[in-house]
Amino acid sequence: MRHHTTFRQLEIFEAIARLGSFTRASESLYLTQPTVSMQIKKLTETVGSPLLEQFGKKVSLTEDGRELAQATREIFAILDRYTMSVAQRRGLQKGRLNLMAITTASYFAPRLLGEFSKLHPGIDVSLRVTNKEQVLASMADNLDDLYLLGTPPEEIDVVATPIMDNPIVVLAAPGHPLAQAKNIPLERLAQEPWVMREAGSGTRKAIESLFRAQGLEIRPRLDLGSNEAVKQAILADLGISALSCHTLALHQPEQFAVLDVVGFPIRRHWYAVYPVGRQISVVARAFLDFLLGHPQPAVCAPTGGPSCCSANCNAQGSCTPLHNKKS
Ligand code: PGA
Repeated sequence: MRHHTTFRQLEIFEAIARLGSFTRASESLYLTQPTVSMQIKKLTETVGSPLLEQFGKKVSLTEDGRELAQATREIFAILDRYTMSVAQRRGLQKGRLNLMAITTASYFAPRLLGEFSKLHPGIDVSLRVTNKEQVLASMADNLDDLYLLGTPPEEIDVVATPIMDNPIVVLAAPGHPLAQAKNIPLERLAQEPWVMREAGSGTRKAIESLFRAQGLEIRPRLDLGSNEAVKQAILADLGISALSCHTLALHQPEQFAVLDVVGFPIRRHWYAVYPVGRQISVVARAFLDFLLGHPQPAVCAPTGGPSCCSANCNAQGSCTPLHNKKS
């Protein structure tokens, strides 16, 4: 059979089996009906027994026909997989990755992008760090491949994959009176002067909802528009604040006191996000896979305690990728 059957015949046969009609198969393949009939006649002769039965306009498969239809689907599936893997190899040799990250993601996104670029030097990468409003505008216009966010947007239907822990911890100047205290209640913290990120920040929302859930309210002494400005204000003894552990990445551990507060760290995640319905590129898929297999960065823990506060840290204080974690 192998020497006489052509892929074209199998393709036509598969279409008839799937659509149940010669007419619809010829339309879907842009062929004339006589061509379709001729090819099926040849295929039937090669097999040596009828493959199709016709009742009026309706076509159904004989037992031999059903078996051939199954074999044909398997052959085509193998070919599709082969085509995709060739495309993937080509796609990762050359291509482009456009990423957009929300403010605080700038503490880890460039490093991860750098590592990915080293693995795939032929890929051009671009990273824009911006605020929530611009993220939504870019998503609505389908501009970037992937978005790195702390909170998936509610305004747009998205596919959101958690890629990394994002614990939020309470920070104070090293000499702060609460620096060595244990299990500080939230009520006590609410009495402190606070320095807060600007309204609309995901970090701020997470802190406010934790306090609100306990019937408490923080009255910020200062609102500041960036994590760096908040850290400077803490060091200037203007108040305490709570920020993502990732904002401490480049600091010496003793530069800030991480307070031991009941309810903290607030356990959040970073997400890689794209709009539902977007066919993400081979390069974007490879970057997503890279993120999922990437070890979690070690993050901060209360001053004087173990060196890691991330949910997936082991007793030695080292971290495993989020997706290797047993839940
Ligand atoms: P942000 O961080 O506070 O810079 O908005 C994003 C988030 O944590 O949701």
